[in-house]
Amino acid sequence: MSSFDADHHRVELQVNGEQRTVRVRAAETLLYTLRHHLGLTGCKPGCNNGDCGACTILVDSQPMKSCLMLTVEAWGKQITTIEGLMGTDVQRAFAENQAFQCGYCTPGFIMNCEGLRRVHPHANEETVRVWLESNICRCTSYEEIHRAVKDVFTLHTDKGRNL
Ligand code: FES
Ligand code: FES
Repeated sequence: MSSFDADHHRVELQVNGEQRTVRVRAAETLLYTLRHHLGLTGCKPGCNNGDCGACTILVDSQPMKSCLMLTVEAWGKQITTIEGLMGTDVQRAFAENQAFQCGYCTPGFIMNCEGLRRVHPHANEETVRVWLESNICRCTSYEEIHRAVKDVFTLHTDKGRNL
């Protein structure tokens, strides 16, 4: 992080494979920066205190609630947002299983699922259940969401068998 003026800092971020430079206040959250400086509105503000998961992104492949991370802490980290998962298996699985109603929570669930796939590629049902507890769907599409996540892991296992 390098200083810009007393109130702002210049921060270089790696977002969806691209280097981006932003000028932010020290207390600015990554959620705010992604949405308001970089136009990446897929991560959603919900509770703004770490409870709902609507703002979930990946930071170095780990799911992170972007409302809880300061932008200045993200210097040098690899950030992935829902915009970076276009055309992936996980996005397809949610669409095919119609795992949403209003869709507000969906980017967060998809990011969390992608994080699980990266961290625990052979997660069992129990791990999936516990992992998804960090996200809330107010339309209660949980059954379809679980089906979508299960499909992602089945697909992954089948691909593994075909190697
Ligand atoms: S907005 Fe970040 S967890 Fe709810
Ligand atoms: S689909 Fe509406 S909050 Fe989950």
